[in-house]
Amino acid sequence: MIAIASDHTALLYKKELLDFLRTLGHEAEDLGPLTSEPSDYPVYAEKVALSVTSGRAQKGILLCGTGIGMSIAAGKIRGVRCACCSELYSAILSRKHNDANILCLGARVIGIEPAKMIVQAWLETPFEGQRHARRLQMIEELEARGL
Ligand code: RB5
Repeated sequence: MIAIASDHTALLYKKELLDFLRTLGHEAEDLGPLTSEPSDYPVYAEKVALSVTSGRAQKGILLCGTGIGMSIAAGKIRGVRCACCSELYSAILSRKHNDANILCLGARVIGIEPAKMIVQAWLETPFEGQRHARRLQMIEELEARGL
C-alpha cells in the first residue's frame, strides 16, 4: 500500500496522482487533507511518515508547493528516508542508492505528467544494497545518537 498526502497547494495534483497510482495497480491511501482549506504540511508529513515507519504503507508520497517543507518535516521521523525530487535521475537514484521510502514532489515546481513519470520510476526501482546498505546503517547510527 502507498500512503499519500498533501497540503492545500497540491490537492488536485494529489487526486491525479492517486488515480494514476490506482491505474498502475497500487493500493493507495489518501491521508488528507480532503478540503482546500489552508493546511499545515507538517501534520500530513507526520501521518504519511508514521504509516511508512509502522509498516502499514510500503512507501509514501508527500506533496506540497515545493516538496521541501514536507521533506524537512518527514525527515524528522526516525526511519524515514525522504527524497524531494524534481527530475527522474534523482528519483531513481534515491531508490537505488538511498532506499528512499518517501518521495516528495512540489506541485508548484513540476507538472503533473513529469510527476507521474517520477512516481512510476520511483516505485519500480529497487534498492541496490551492497555498499549503499552500509551507508544507510551509518545514517541509522546518526539517528540513534539523537543529536
Ligand atoms: C504553502 O504556501 C507552502 O509553503 C507549502 O506548500 C510548501 O511549499 C512548503 O514547503
